[in-house]
Amino acid sequence: MQPAGKRPAAPGSEAREEIARMARKQARTKPDEQQAPARSPLKMLQELAALQEISRSLQVLDLDEILHLVLDGVTKTIGFDRARLYLINEREHRLECRMAAGIEQEKTAGVTLPLEKSNSMLARSVIERKPFIVEDAMEDPRVNRDLKQLFGLKSFAVVPLVGRGRVLGAITADNLTSDRVITPEGFNSLVAFAGQAGVALENAQVHDELRTLNRELEQRVRDATEDLKKTQDKLIQSEKLAALGKLSAGIAHEIRNPLTSMKVLVHALSGRLEGREKEQEDIAVIEDEIERVNRIITRFLDFARPRSPEFSRVDVNRLLDETITLVTREAEERGVLFEQTRESVPAVLADREQMKQVFLNVFLNALDAMPGGGQLSVSTRCTAGRVEIAVSDRGGGIQEETRKQIFEPFFTTKEEGVGLGLSIVKRIVDEHGGTLLVKDNPPRGTTFTVSMPPAGSEGALA
Ligand SMILES: Nc1ncnc2c1ncn2[C@@H]1O[C@H](COP(=O)(O)OP(=O)(O)OP(=O)(O)O)[C@@H](O)[C@H]1O
Ligand SMILES: [Mg+2]
Repeated sequence: MQPAGKRPAAPGSEAREEIARMARKQARTKPDEQQAPARSPLKMLQELAALQEISRSLQVLDLDEILHLVLDGVTKTIGFDRARLYLINEREHRLECRMAAGIEQEKTAGVTLPLEKSNSMLARSVIERKPFIVEDAMEDPRVNRDLKQLFGLKSFAVVPLVGRGRVLGAITADNLTSDRVITPEGFNSLVAFAGQAGVALENAQVHDELRTLNRELEQRVRDATEDLKKTQDKLIQSEKLAALGKLSAGIAHEIRNPLTSMKVLVHALSGRLEGREKEQEDIAVIEDEIERVNRIITRFLDFARPRSPEFSRVDVNRLLDETITLVTREAEERGVLFEQTRESVPAVLADREQMKQVFLNVFLNALDAMPGGGQLSVSTRCTAGRVEIAVSDRGGGIQEETRKQIFEPFFTTKEEGVGLGLSIVKRIVDEHGGTLLVKDNPPRGTTFTVSMPPAGSEGALA
């Protein structure tokens, strides 16, 4: 930008050429056809002072404010009836009308033009970096036809806005309302003023870009901090799980050996007590209890010593059929009916047995949630490029507070629960690159949704 107080830059040679062309034209015109009276030197001095004042104000860095000031300068100080300011959109290679004065807002909103010389005088002025006066827009084939109609163009001036070597856009100005001819002085002032405006606009644009960059940087730092926190939480959680797992595995192992001996001995005892009904009943209870403890231990070991998944292509619908078969008897006993909505979905890359474990746990939880029986819906579909399996029960649902804890190992609300089912489910789903979502199932109950990437898609097993 020019230092404050300096005179506006003298119009360039292109402007002089354009003025000379006008002068030659006007010399050929008869005196009574000339409409614009010459301006007095005093008037010109006043205008110059006002323009200098505006140029000084252009030192602000807010882009919109500068656009306003520039248009005010062109209309109120230089005296054009109307002015439109276009800026280059480099990404789309177009000129966009950013602001206008002396013309209804609705007319200029959304006006854009391709940045091609043959399309408009505006583009020509920007590309050639030259100011022009168009005397009869309607007859001039270089003027864009749509703009002619939209703005009722007759005679207008177009001046490029050039920063420090970089062209930013252009201003067009005319005197449509008063029907005055564009004088060489008016055109001269416009060109000089556009020189100042270009530099100010460039400064503001750079400032704008810096501000956007700054905001982006801040956002990136925020995102990175959040990611770091998540990773840290995960690390703490997995360390906790590893310690817990080690402990559980040790205890489970110690219990399993004597349990196996007990099982063998009780079986032998049962043989020796054949025919003694009362004792046989007691033995059956002992065997049931041993089985229960065994199941709990197996769960502990599943949790504590997870094996790495062995991936193969798995047909989800078939896998669900097989898993449902495993719980059919228990469901019947409890009066729970399966309702199925299946779509044909792409195969997923998964460990069959582990995925069965996932759905088995979710089904068993659903059965537990409906002790008096009810409907258990299982649906499959493909949505947003993912294979989705939803399991909905009509049980009592999960309270908001409880929901935060259901994936924690050993969290249970059941008298006989171990609280490991869902933590195993979550780990398996995570290891498969899937997601697990828990939602209410209005009017009552819960929906667990497992979403998996289809086999062969990007992100599978990532
Ligand atoms: N479908 C459901 N409806 C209501 N509550 C549920 C449902 N599924 C899970 N929960 C809640 O989440 C808790 C944790 O479930 P999780 O499967 O991990 O353990 P559990 O079922 O209690 O014990 P187990 O280790 O035998 O599975 C349950 O105790 C229960 O409170
Ligand atoms: Mg469970």
